[in-house]
Amino acid sequence: MYVRHLSIGDFRSYPAAELALEPGVTTLVGLNGQGKTNLVEAIGYVASLSSHRVATDQPLVRFGADRAIVRAAVVRDERESLVELEITPGRANRAKLNRSPLPRTRDVLGTLRTVLFAPEDLALIKGDPGERRRFLDDLLVQRQPRWSGVRSDYDKILKQRGALLKSAAALLGGKRGRGRRSSAAPEGVDPRAAAEDAVRTLDIWDDHLATVGGQLLYARLRLLRDLVPHLQQAYREVSANQSEATAVYRSSLHDEAAEAIAGGEVPEPDELRQMLLDTLGERRDQEIERGVNLVGPHRDDLVLGLGPMPAKGYASHGESWSFALGLRLAAYHLLRHDLGDDPVLVLDDVFAELDSGRRERLAAMIVDCEQVLITAAVPEDVPESMAGRRYSVTLGEVSGP
Ligand SMILES: Nc1ncnc2c1ncn2[C@@H]1O[C@H](COP(=O)(O)OP(=O)(O)O)[C@@H](O)[C@H]1O
Ligand SMILES: [Mg+2]
Repeated sequence: MYVRHLSIGDFRSYPAAELALEPGVTTLVGLNGQGKTNLVEAIGYVASLSSHRVATDQPLVRFGADRAIVRAAVVRDERESLVELEITPGRANRAKLNRSPLPRTRDVLGTLRTVLFAPEDLALIKGDPGERRRFLDDLLVQRQPRWSGVRSDYDKILKQRGALLKSAAALLGGKRGRGRRSSAAPEGVDPRAAAEDAVRTLDIWDDHLATVGGQLLYARLRLLRDLVPHLQQAYREVSANQSEATAVYRSSLHDEAAEAIAGGEVPEPDELRQMLLDTLGERRDQEIERGVNLVGPHRDDLVLGLGPMPAKGYASHGESWSFALGLRLAAYHLLRHDLGDDPVLVLDDVFAELDSGRRERLAAMIVDCEQVLITAAVPEDVPESMAGRRYSVTLGEVSGP
């Protein structure tokens, strides 16, 4: 698939901009701070309904404006779809597909698929587990949009259960059955009865967490199993390095289950549900004591390694960079393989970080991609063989090619 046209209004630094695109390679060139990334960020937003740079929508809206508009014409198998998004921070965003309003914004997911690689991706290697969980979950949604709903259901369960744990912690005074248990019970309510009530409600939420968490965990494990061969190949190709890239799932389940999963087993969703319930049972006292959800896919990590060593803390800057690129290229190949169609590949400010060998190898790897969008401050950093059409971006104005 490819984006044929992008149109934005009050998005980031742009009051308005139009960008006509074609299949093949397009390079956006301009000095830093001119608005190149803002354009590809808008394209990424159409595909994922989130930004690769910020966690909330507010910074996407031009400063001083109250909403942003992003429109993209997407061509797949010669059929064109028009996606229109209205980003209104603090209120529900709105989406239209082919001019018809959609009941939920997330129904637009799947129309455009992108894989975006940017300097921020170094955090996949060097950052917190949350970065790697997000990588997996975002890819899950790109692969099958229905996971977006499961993901948001899971987040809601965590919120509710977290609030319940906090109130149980207050009622039970930290340690179960000990301490200042009277303090949090409303007046006229027997604190012991209130605490027992909270525990019963907790049983119900354990069940929700285990059911939805088990599905999410299952999906991640299946995804990882499919992704790792692509990762190993992509890392080899980018780095021309001897060490092998590895990715092992570290779950917050009890030891026996966690070991099986780390060893590459993918239990069925029902089994994972039971494992979650068992682990929740084992750790309930601790959860109540701390008032925090300690068990479930939101506590898991993806341990990345190079040969026998973990990547985090050990890999050099160049190796980390290649690894992050390897993850994104693996995602690209997985989606291409799944969909029988190429997602749009976006390489934001990537070439400046690569030595000439890596640049040439990357260029060779992406020649056959249906559409590649590149941004670069220094045009010479992009190998001649793949620069494609060039636009220049100056202070929020796009011109060319
Ligand atoms: N919400 C916003 N409103 C107005 N300007 C913004 C907003 N967000 C970012 N900018 C501006 O956009 C510019 C950065 O654009 P960017 O696309 O990241 O540049 P680059 O060409 O280096 O990729 C900065 O000058 C920044 O101040
Ligand atoms: Mg940039």
